[in-house]
Amino acid sequence: MTIQGCCAVLVRSDQCFRGFEEVWTAMISANALVLSALIMFALTLPAFSVGIRPAQADPVELPEPKYEGKVSVETALLERRSIRDYADETVTLTDVSQLLWAAQGLTGPSGYRTAPSAGALYPLEVYLVAGKVASLPAGIYRYKPRGHEVVKIVEGDKRSELCTAALGQSALREAPVSIVVTAIFERTTQKYRDRGYRYVHMEAGHAAQNVCLQAVSLDLGTVVIGAFYDDDIKKVMQLTATEEPLYIIPVGKRRR
Ligand SMILES: Cc1cc2nc3c(=O)[nH]c(=O)nc-3n(C[C@H](O)[C@H](O)[C@H](O)COP(=O)(O)O)c2cc1C
Repeated sequence: MTIQGCCAVLVRSDQCFRGFEEVWTAMISANALVLSALIMFALTLPAFSVGIRPAQADPVELPEPKYEGKVSVETALLERRSIRDYADETVTLTDVSQLLWAAQGLTGPSGYRTAPSAGALYPLEVYLVAGKVASLPAGIYRYKPRGHEVVKIVEGDKRSELCTAALGQSALREAPVSIVVTAIFERTTQKYRDRGYRYVHMEAGHAAQNVCLQAVSLDLGTVVIGAFYDDDIKKVMQLTATEEPLYIIPVGKRRR
């Protein structure tokens, strides 16, 4: 092959390579577009899979909690027992108010609460799964310590679904209400790193014990439930992806 011939071949193969390069670049950018769309979809998927909360309902103000009772702390400690059978009776809004306050209520203008919290960071959220509460429609409500009020986040009686998500534990279907303690771990772990996980679990224990003792004082029965499918509870309660359920506490008049 002559030198001119070689040059002509080289020029043609270079043009061919450039053409190929253009097609290839176009393909890469198209793929990148599809890929980023897929990544975006995958990232938003958890939010869809656990449900998107409807627009917030108006808050329901709870009766003022009482700061005195007829049962001493010692008697409450002595009498607390896990109760799993409940009478088919409605609970009052006053009792609900007292139980929620015991879990995470404010105890002063400074924002401190009934249960201790590492660094006062308050990673816990408290919910009421209301089935039979006098003058409160059935639904799932989020407790707001500031204002001592609840806001409905899910419509309707969800006790059966809660029961199914907790391995069919019938206490959750029978009890007129359940209190659910969840945690947003990040609130604590951003300061305390890995040790924060331990702190958050400890805090759930404090809140749950407060509810148990308060229930004794109100002549109500409770049991703390830790056996449930996290993802199923998150779906029933329409929790956001960053919030984990830790404890479920059914409450009701014990069946005599
Ligand atoms: C972390 C934890 C998880 C528990 N989970 C369940 C549960 O899923 N279902 C249940 O019926 N009881 C549960 N319990 C309650 C225990 O079974 C109960 O506390 C124990 O039998 C002692 O009885 P007492 O509470 O009457 O003293 C749990 C208790 C704890 C501390």
